[in-house]
Amino acid sequence: MKVTVVGAGAVGATCADNIARKQLCDELVIVDIKEGVAEGKAMDLMQTAQIEGFDTRIIGSTNDYEKTAGSTVAVITSGIPRKPGMTREELIGINAGIVKSVTENILKYSPDAIIVVISNPMDTMSYLALKSSKLPKNRIIGMGGILDSSRFRYFLSQAMKCSPNDIQAMVIGGHGDTTMIPLTRLATYMGTPVSNYLDAETLKKVAADTMVGGATLTKLLGTSAWYAPGASGASLLEAIVRDENRLMPCCVMLDGEYGQSDICIGVPVHIGKNGWSKVVDVNLNDEEKAQFAKSAEAVRNMNHVLSTLNI
Ligand code: LAC
Repeated sequence: MKVTVVGAGAVGATCADNIARKQLCDELVIVDIKEGVAEGKAMDLMQTAQIEGFDTRIIGSTNDYEKTAGSTVAVITSGIPRKPGMTREELIGINAGIVKSVTENILKYSPDAIIVVISNPMDTMSYLALKSSKLPKNRIIGMGGILDSSRFRYFLSQAMKCSPNDIQAMVIGGHGDTTMIPLTRLATYMGTPVSNYLDAETLKKVAADTMVGGATLTKLLGTSAWYAPGASGASLLEAIVRDENRLMPCCVMLDGEYGQSDICIGVPVHIGKNGWSKVVDVNLNDEEKAQFAKSAEAVRNMNHVLSTLNI
């Protein structure tokens, strides 16, 4: 099996590193527009093969998509990352053109590929990739909810002083500082509501910290985070290539589910070899439904910006 990661920046390279260590494919192609960077990262990663004990062959390509031909899954990480103080939404002008042309190039050589979108603003980039490619909706998946949910579980575990592995929790809605919806009411510690252990004020702070999780890291690092975004992309890819039928919060095109249509936004979906298959209704209460409608409105407004761009 062959897999492509487009973008050899920090997120793309980390994603590739995770894919190789988990040996999720036989061949992994990394593509980047900057001369030599993908080749260099591929060689550096291949020099960990003996140490880590993986057999995945990694090759780099400077913008030559012929090398990606026959990929089962392609992960798009291309585009510019956030700088401190920037929102994900501010990246749309530059990243939209990049994501559209990368999608076209992938499909030219891998017409059956499932596409995982990481580039920001992720909800709008997923929508753009789907609209411009006219692919069946099950084949375009934005990974934001996996990342945001992992951050939510981290912040909950910090407050609980427990392992993130004992927390079940999910973030739905948009992948933006003001659009994500950490589902605090449904979060559990080994199946028991976290509200049994944490007071309302603490839970509010956990949700707020989760929503600005990416921005906090951007401020600390001077650029956007990469370990958790890269690992999230690889875990989504793993669920696809291993046909795991996992339930993951991902950004997908809705057609009436959660009261929304013609929008890519985060909801829990089944993930397997055909991409995503089924949206799961988690029975939101009225307050959560209102939050979801508000989040969808903001994402939709961002999608409208696409029509003003010359792409
Ligand atoms: C983040 C970026 C990748 O949340 O969206 O870190």
